[in-house]
Amino acid sequence: MASTTDSITVETSKTSKINSVDFSNLDFGRLFTDHMFVCDYKDGKWQNPKITPYQAMTIDPSARVFHYGQAVFEGMKAYKDEDGKTFLFRPKQNFDRINKSSERLAMPAFREDYFFEGLEALLKLDKDWIKPGVGNSLYLRPFVIATEPAISASPAEEYRFMIICSPAKSYYNSPVRVLIAEQYSRSADGGVGFAKAAGNYAAQFYPTSLAQKDGFQQVIWTDANTHKYLEEAGTMNVFFRVNDKLITAPISDRILDGVTRKSIIQLASDLGITCEVRQITVEEIKTAAREGHLKEVFGVGTAAVVSPVSAFQHADELFELAEVEDSYGKLFKQTLLNIQHNLSEDVHGWRHEVK
Ligand SMILES: Cc1ncc(COP(=O)(O)O)c(C=O)c1O
Repeated sequence: MASTTDSITVETSKTSKINSVDFSNLDFGRLFTDHMFVCDYKDGKWQNPKITPYQAMTIDPSARVFHYGQAVFEGMKAYKDEDGKTFLFRPKQNFDRINKSSERLAMPAFREDYFFEGLEALLKLDKDWIKPGVGNSLYLRPFVIATEPAISASPAEEYRFMIICSPAKSYYNSPVRVLIAEQYSRSADGGVGFAKAAGNYAAQFYPTSLAQKDGFQQVIWTDANTHKYLEEAGTMNVFFRVNDKLITAPISDRILDGVTRKSIIQLASDLGITCEVRQITVEEIKTAAREGHLKEVFGVGTAAVVSPVSAFQHADELFELAEVEDSYGKLFKQTLLNIQHNLSEDVHGWRHEVK
């Protein structure tokens, strides 16, 4: 059935897959809801925004996305409270960031009205896929790809913006073992590290797979020039707790400006926990670990919220981190989940209700 909101054409799916889904046993990112949002950029403007049944699509083999990786994406979540109300968490941050990413890849900015109308119309249609309960969410994947059929090595003139949705439980729930990068780099000065450019992730797969062979789930990247400074993990910003003080690396053109990271910096300030935002050397963290001052290391990001690190290795030296009683990581995770699921006051106005 086709209908239109103010500007979006909606074609609903005739059938739903939802009854065949085991929501207690979800494999992250493999299963998608019944609908998707699509909007094309042509003749210098975004046009024809629509919601359609989730389906495969046809793209010309010469499209730039396949040859030059002109592709950016976002990762965000929708949450439901016990009354069935749906919320997004700081969605404007994701909207701004996808356009920042697009700008760096010479791609056109998306329209804010289409972004929010598309997202909200999609969430209303697929609302039954969002399960209440802390830890349940609907992972939202907005992305933009260059679709123009031409392989000259220059920016495309045609693009597609889409949003697909996948039901999720927070992943990386168990503590992770991480390897600190000594040879490979994720990003460089003047590069695209701050953007959620698809190629940034492809470039991490190989070094991460080498680390995985040695029993580490993730790599903590260091600066490309010296490998002396700790930056971020594959899909997470990283916090170090030395005694009762937190430290996290500053945002730069090499590091993604994570929404979870900036929220935790604010929460630390609210809770009276000192948080230094500054460059962190690998050596100072190793020294703190040797001297027993390194209490916690944790990654933070939309997917896992907070992911504790149980061990890290650098230059063949392995450091195991014992669990602490008064974990800051656990405190931030619970505080954030409570805000996201409408279980606590939202003093900073981070919740965005989908009505
Ligand atoms: C490279 C990288 N760093 C950090 C993050 C965490 O960002 P956010 O908290 O906005 O999810 C992500 C995930 O989006 C990421 O891909």
